[in-house]
Amino acid sequence: MKHLLSPLDFTVQETEELLDLAHDIRISPDNYSHHCDGKKIATLFYEPSTRTRLSFEAAMMNMGGTCLGFSEAASSSATKGETVADTIRVVSSYADICAIRHPKEGAPRVAADHSTIPIVNAGDGGHQHPTQTLADIMTIRELRGSLNNFTIGICGDLKFGRTVHSLIHALIRYENVRFVLISPRELRVPEYVREDLLVDNGVDFREVEKLEDVIDMLDILYMTRVQKERFFSEDEYIRMKDYYILNKDKLEYAKPDMYVLHPLPRNNEIASDVDNDPRAKYFEQVNNAVYVRQSVILTLLRSAGTL
Ligand code: CP
Repeated sequence: MKHLLSPLDFTVQETEELLDLAHDIRISPDNYSHHCDGKKIATLFYEPSTRTRLSFEAAMMNMGGTCLGFSEAASSSATKGETVADTIRVVSSYADICAIRHPKEGAPRVAADHSTIPIVNAGDGGHQHPTQTLADIMTIRELRGSLNNFTIGICGDLKFGRTVHSLIHALIRYENVRFVLISPRELRVPEYVREDLLVDNGVDFREVEKLEDVIDMLDILYMTRVQKERFFSEDEYIRMKDYYILNKDKLEYAKPDMYVLHPLPRNNEIASDVDNDPRAKYFEQVNNAVYVRQSVILTLLRSAGTL
């Protein structure tokens, strides 16, 4: 039985198959409308979410299944001191698959170690968010036709942004992907990402502070929000929060086919005047996330022998 805790839990080949399935679901959704009849997904969200929780639930419902779960720790027995390990032992009796979001890094790993059903990491602290990454790379593949040979600028909070860490993990496995990491000094990628992933694997990357200096060389610009909830000091957050604002004027300097992605939610880092630019693809990303999550549910249930 497979779990999905990190993008590396699927090989490049398995990832291609998963994205192919997501693409097929996108073009022929009706063919999948009964694949999960009688199946249940538990969504255990100890941290707030709009997209991830609702799209997991929509994904299961699109295939004939049903959902149960909680959207905040306060409405669960975590408030009475129940551990993630005990919670998942219980939930394994109620559902066929579980998506869990938790503020503590590694909590989905603990859940997987005590589960008899597949576990999907729906975001753990500042660590990983693998299904967001699958939606990101599905969107890049649909737009560019390939996950090889492009330059991606990743801009904003690269220290705490778990979508950033998962995306780098995933993309370094493809050919000739060049990274431009755009952040203030204080929000650069953690050392384990820089040294263990980028340097040790001989990846072509550079770290810069100004978006304006590099925007003309990018094929993809992946904007991110400054993660207020992970800052220790309000003052520090306020100093950083509007460091980058992509607007229509700045976009003038980008290539005509440079696509703008963002995992959302956004604050001020993408002005609303960018939304109608044909290069703005963040709402397409949201759409793809449902198909990707349908594909993840099917793939993991098959691996568990439940389908
Ligand atoms: N992208 C993402 O994880 O959004 P939510 O926090 O709304 O789930």
